[in-house]
Amino acid sequence: MTDAAIVVEGLVKKYGALRALDGIDLVVPRGTVTALLGPNGAGKTTAVRVLTTLITPDAGSARVLGLDVVRDAQELRSRIGASGQYAAVDEYLTGFENLEMVGRLYHLGAKRARERSRELLRQFDLVEAGDRPVKGYSGGMRRRLDLAGALVAEPEVLFLDEPTTGLDPRARLGLWDVIDDLVSRGTTLLLTTQYMDEAERLADDIVVVDHGAVIARGTADSLKERVGGERIELSVEDGSDLEHARDVLQQVATGDVDVNEKARRVTFPVAEGTASLVDALGRLAERDIAVFDVGLRRPTMDEVFLILTGHEADTDGAAAEADSAETTRETGATR
Ligand SMILES: Nc1ncnc2c1ncn2[C@@H]1O[C@H](COP(=O)(O)OP(=O)(O)OP(=O)(O)O)[C@@H](O)[C@H]1O
Ligand SMILES: [Mg+2]
Repeated sequence: MTDAAIVVEGLVKKYGALRALDGIDLVVPRGTVTALLGPNGAGKTTAVRVLTTLITPDAGSARVLGLDVVRDAQELRSRIGASGQYAAVDEYLTGFENLEMVGRLYHLGAKRARERSRELLRQFDLVEAGDRPVKGYSGGMRRRLDLAGALVAEPEVLFLDEPTTGLDPRARLGLWDVIDDLVSRGTTLLLTTQYMDEAERLADDIVVVDHGAVIARGTADSLKERVGGERIELSVEDGSDLEHARDVLQQVATGDVDVNEKARRVTFPVAEGTASLVDALGRLAERDIAVFDVGLRRPTMDEVFLILTGHEADTDGAAAEADSAETTRETGATR
């Protein structure tokens, strides 16, 4: 018996010459939430499809609740819930009928299936729409219905592929609450997302994937830390002060001071936030170096993502930061 709900080792999935999954390792402890974060084509959906037994891998192994996704696929299917990137609902049935049908497929029993369906319609704000055919639903309503479908059987492990893509802000917050609720009752969740705030808000662990491989993993805080903690961005009035400013600020910085001559700007990491900022400004004032603009910056999750996946490589400083981040694989960030 293991504490992990999901254990993935060296998972590979090929489509012709393309390695959609190129050796992914992953462990999701029971009762926790892991977010797979990655750009378009990273392999997120492919990973979820393997884990939910919809496709078979070419190499490596994956176990969910101790069951092998290939050998034990049939048993596994009845113990997990999944919602795909594209809502899978029957257009001609009502919302209620869709959920009830899922309940029957999971052998809930007619009465329990009906009760559970009504309960979920309430939870997902679909009570009024529940008795109308799905073909009249908006995109967001379909999405919510599809998500509700994944919860019908109250699965121990849930896979949600981009659960909030296409939802309006209110529906998105509503879904986050539903997820909190599930997780507090012990559900293990693997979700994929392109939204950093979502990963940060919901996930205990974030796994950043790109080109079918894991390029970084950790908590939101540890990823931010790795990319670089707080830094000060400061531009001077007069470009001829730049070199002098660099030397002065090197005494405040905890790492190299980067200089961007065109922008008359220096950027450097600091350890003590606003205290460092006050220190830096004091030192410049003493030497009559006029400051044009200054700011204290912490990387946002968006920046972390862009830096780790190498998509911000040619803007200031990003390449240097990607170098210092402990990426487990070359990401192209240094090109
Ligand atoms: N059935 C398929 N046949 C051929 N190539 C595929 C197939 N499914 C996925 N791919 C390719 O595998 C790679 C990974 O695709 P996948 O759908 O897993 O990415 P994703 O991370 O989910 O992207 P998105 O954010 O756009 O949903 C892509 O290059 C994609 O084109
Ligand atoms: Mg996808």
